[in-house]
Amino acid sequence: MMVEMSIGSLQLLFLCILTAVPANGQLQTGFISIDCGAPANFKYVDLDTGISYESDGAYTDTGTNRNISSDYAYPNNPNLPQPLSDLRSFPQGNKNCYTLRPAAGNASLYLIRASFFYANYDGLNDPPQFDLYLDANLWLTVKFSNTSDVVTSETVSFASSKAIYVCLVNIGAGVPFISALELRPLNSSTYDSEYGKSASLLLYQRLNVGSTKGSGRYTDDIYDRIWAPYVSSSWEAINTSLAVNTNENGYKAPPEVIQTAARSQNASKPLELRWTSSNASDQFFVYLYFAEVEQLQRNVSRKFNISWNGSQISGPFSPRYLYTATISNSKALVGGERRIVIYKTADSALPPILNAVEIYKARLLDELLTNSEDVNALFSVKTTYQIKKNWVGDPCGPKKYPWEGLACNYGSSIPPQIIYLNLSSSKLNGAITAALVELSSLESLDLSNNSLTGPVPEFLEELKNLKYLNLRGNNLSGAVPKALLERLNAGLLTLSVDEQNLCGSASCKRKKGIIIPIVSSLSSVMALCAALVVLWKLRRKWKSGTGSPNEEGRYLASEKRHFTYPEVVSMTNNFQTVIGKGGFGDVYLGIMNEGTQVAVKMLSASSSQGLREFRTEAELLMRIHHKNLASFIGYCDESNKMVLIYEYLAKGNLKNYLSDGDSRSLSWESRLRIAIDAAQGLEYLHHGCKPPIVHRDVKTANILLSESMEAKIADFGLSKVIPSDGLSNMTTSVVGTTGYLDPEYYISRKLNEKSDVYSFGIVLLELITGQPAIIKAEMPVHILEWVSPFIQRGDILDLVDQRLQGDFDESSARRAVEIATACAASTSLHRPTMGYVLPELKHCLEMELSRGLERTPGPRDEAISTTVSTSSPEIQSTNFDSMSAISPR
Ligand SMILES: *[C@@H]1O[C@H](CO)[C@@H](O)[C@H](O)[C@H]1NC(C)=O
Ligand SMILES: *[C@@H]1O[C@H](CO)[C@@H](O)[C@H](O)[C@H]1NC(C)=O
Ligand SMILES: *[C@@H]1O[C@H](CO)[C@@H](O)[C@H](O)[C@H]1NC(C)=O
Ligand SMILES: *[C@@H]1O[C@H](CO)[C@@H](O)[C@H](O)[C@H]1NC(C)=O
Ligand SMILES: *[C@@H]1O[C@H](CO)[C@@H](O)[C@H](O)[C@H]1NC(C)=O
Ligand SMILES: *[C@@H]1O[C@H](CO)[C@@H](O)[C@H](O)[C@H]1NC(C)=O
Ligand SMILES: *[C@@H]1O[C@H](CO)[C@@H](O)[C@H](O)[C@H]1NC(C)=O
Ligand SMILES: *[C@@H]1O[C@H](CO)[C@@H](O)[C@H](O)[C@H]1NC(C)=O
Ligand SMILES: *[C@@H]1O[C@H](CO)[C@@H](O)[C@H](O)[C@H]1NC(C)=O
Repeated sequence: MMVEMSIGSLQLLFLCILTAVPANGQLQTGFISIDCGAPANFKYVDLDTGISYESDGAYTDTGTNRNISSDYAYPNNPNLPQPLSDLRSFPQGNKNCYTLRPAAGNASLYLIRASFFYANYDGLNDPPQFDLYLDANLWLTVKFSNTSDVVTSETVSFASSKAIYVCLVNIGAGVPFISALELRPLNSSTYDSEYGKSASLLLYQRLNVGSTKGSGRYTDDIYDRIWAPYVSSSWEAINTSLAVNTNENGYKAPPEVIQTAARSQNASKPLELRWTSSNASDQFFVYLYFAEVEQLQRNVSRKFNISWNGSQISGPFSPRYLYTATISNSKALVGGERRIVIYKTADSALPPILNAVEIYKARLLDELLTNSEDVNALFSVKTTYQIKKNWVGDPCGPKKYPWEGLACNYGSSIPPQIIYLNLSSSKLNGAITAALVELSSLESLDLSNNSLTGPVPEFLEELKNLKYLNLRGNNLSGAVPKALLERLNAGLLTLSVDEQNLCGSASCKRKKGIIIPIVSSLSSVMALCAALVVLWKLRRKWKSGTGSPNEEGRYLASEKRHFTYPEVVSMTNNFQTVIGKGGFGDVYLGIMNEGTQVAVKMLSASSSQGLREFRTEAELLMRIHHKNLASFIGYCDESNKMVLIYEYLAKGNLKNYLSDGDSRSLSWESRLRIAIDAAQGLEYLHHGCKPPIVHRDVKTANILLSESMEAKIADFGLSKVIPSDGLSNMTTSVVGTTGYLDPEYYISRKLNEKSDVYSFGIVLLELITGQPAIIKAEMPVHILEWVSPFIQRGDILDLVDQRLQGDFDESSARRAVEIATACAASTSLHRPTMGYVLPELKHCLEMELSRGLERTPGPRDEAISTTVSTSSPEIQSTNFDSMSAISPR
């Protein structure tokens, strides 16, 4: 069937095919085959597969073409598939994407294969590591064992929109590249899983059982799947040369794959497939192919059941003579050990057989693509103004890598929408495009400092959620439309325009370069003056607080919502459920329109903060985003009611969690992870924000835990921004919580970020000891006083929470105590920065984790150690020792 041919005769063969079937491309219906890095507009038929490849110009507009090093290329490497001889690398931008627009459109099922062959193309002899995303979800982290390693990954996934994005993300470990990208349409009613369209399947193994030769691919396989040959030593290969019917089976495994099969050598023993993978929570879906290949006597039968880790999942089943059937599990297979056993039933004379198998790992698609109207609008904006930013792939996804200059709202089940768009200083020409109006959730639009001309358009009024509009520094003519002015007067909009647009008439004297932002009512000159004075002050405050207004962008700005008091009342169902009490007021459970739960914090009116200060700070805090900071969703400052709205976290605060009885006591590892999360949040506030922010009230009650025990720091009500010179200590009125309050700050009233480090030290001690900051007794004791005798005696083990019953790594605990006491040093000079604390804590976690590996070489750990890497899984088959070990239900 497979004839070995020299290159010369292969070439001849394909020349013949090309002339005999001019519509060769049509046979590969719906295929997209990209040879990444091929010269522009290049098309060719690959001699090994007969597949037509094209260069990547139609699919991506970033990156550069490169050829692999000649050491790895033809003729030094005669078996190298042609698509791998060149590649496209992406030295610029952190996210670069291919956009595939398959003919079958959205909601169809596709197989997508990406291949990577480094082959020292850059002469550095150092293969990079980078992330590959499918739409907004991580597909895999591409890693190479060596320079000649070819990494190929396949995924089976539904298209969630007309465009499928395959994105390469630079994670700071070298320049991402790709060698080939292929898409094949599949039958949408195959490869079903319990997750339907909300998961993609990552290929783990695809085996042609009983074959010794590689097979499949196009045209044998109409879906161009690659089937690896597989025979186990304890299996017996069998085959038929008769035609096998594969037509009634949507999976369409190629006949040559089904014609070969295997049965166990000893008829009384089952067929067993066993594999290992490093992550016990991986979920597998398995597709087993069966067809009888032996002509059986009438009085004998072949019948078998199938089990997963000892539990029966299917059967009894008798394969039909020369007809293909596929058996798969609808529920994900999970478990530390992965073992599929095909065993004969009692009334079966013959041993079980297996013709082929595909094993996939499920990847849940948690992140949705951006709302399609928003996508269309942005692409229109991109083309209208020929924007030169790295605007590729999906605008909002992946969450970590949105397009430059925009921010999105990410709900749980609705596609994200753009709420913030900053196109200032982006060399925009011409009129303001009406496409912007399609961004229906837009709250903040900055078009300042461009060369926009034409009128301030009426249609901007259609952006019902717009709260901030900046048009200054353009050549716009005419006045601001009435509708926008009304919104302005009602206090619903903050507007910045050039003077000529403010007055809108020729009589208005134009002062070049002077920008008059409008903030409040324009109904009288007096009001305007007042507004300008207020604004001037605010701007000065802003400037002194942030260096320059341009630095605004650094906060990854996403202006969310300013809520009205009635909205807050309805959100909390008239303050029905109290979920916490704080020094500044109660915290209520709220539900937003789209169903998201939020924590609504009421600040008492007596709070020393003025309304305006409150607002400025609230606006500022809304721009801070970090996974370890509880997201600030919005605020309300009406009728003397100051309300802060935060992300709600299901597991409550760390204080309650720690003080609860031992039933829920936290393991040492979880405690370290919480400490690391909190440290990351603080590190971001101190070093990731410009200017730095001091939290001022770090305590266990302000560390919240998500469903998955991820810790987030909450309550920025007291936070202060430190002036950008960074060195000067701000003098403030002292706030904070007893037990956590930095003694130096208390005395000097000079605030710097080391005050948070002190409080963090106390939190860390609480995590270590399980004791509260102030230990209740007749004479209350501060936790520092409580630990110091232990530390002096060196009795670290007695200091650690007794509920852990010694189940922790001793050196990890020692190190953690050292870090905590260093943080809680009495003078700020002796305290480390969070930037120092964070890697130290990570080191503690490593020590704890490595203990876990050495300790119990249980069955699971053994499995892990036999196969270290998941990318090159090992399939082992062994005969099952005794049937009694299987417990069918
Ligand atoms: C790669 O090699 C091919 C064939 O030698 C050549 O045509 C092409 O220009 C090379 N591409 C690059 C980017 O060097
Ligand atoms: C490179 O790595 C691959 C995959 O781990 C391995 O199969 C191959 O033998 C390695 N080649 C060399 C030259 O080390
Ligand atoms: C998918 O296509 C259908 C029909 O063309 C269309 O109604 C639907 O809105 C599309 N969905 C997306 C997410 O593009
Ligand atoms: C089929 O089985 C025969 C006899 O066992 C063997 O010689 C032959 O190579 C097999 N063919 C294939 C395609 O495996
Ligand atoms: C897809 O597969 C199903 C059975 O799995 C079959 O009924 C259907 O005809 C197939 N559709 C196409 C277009 O081949
Ligand atoms: C087949 O397996 C059974 C049960 O393990 C064993 O008793 C028998 O000796 C085996 N037969 C051969 C030929 O190995
Ligand atoms: C293991 O898999 C689960 C679920 O797929 C995932 O959440 C977790 O991060 C994985 N763990 C590791 C160490 O990769
Ligand atoms: C099936 O029938 C054949 C002859 O018809 C006989 O030789 C054989 O032993 C029978 N096998 C069984 C399992 O009954
Ligand atoms: C096979 O499955 C059937 C149906 O679940 C069950 O009755 C039978 O006992 C199983 N056979 C064996 C050998 O486990």
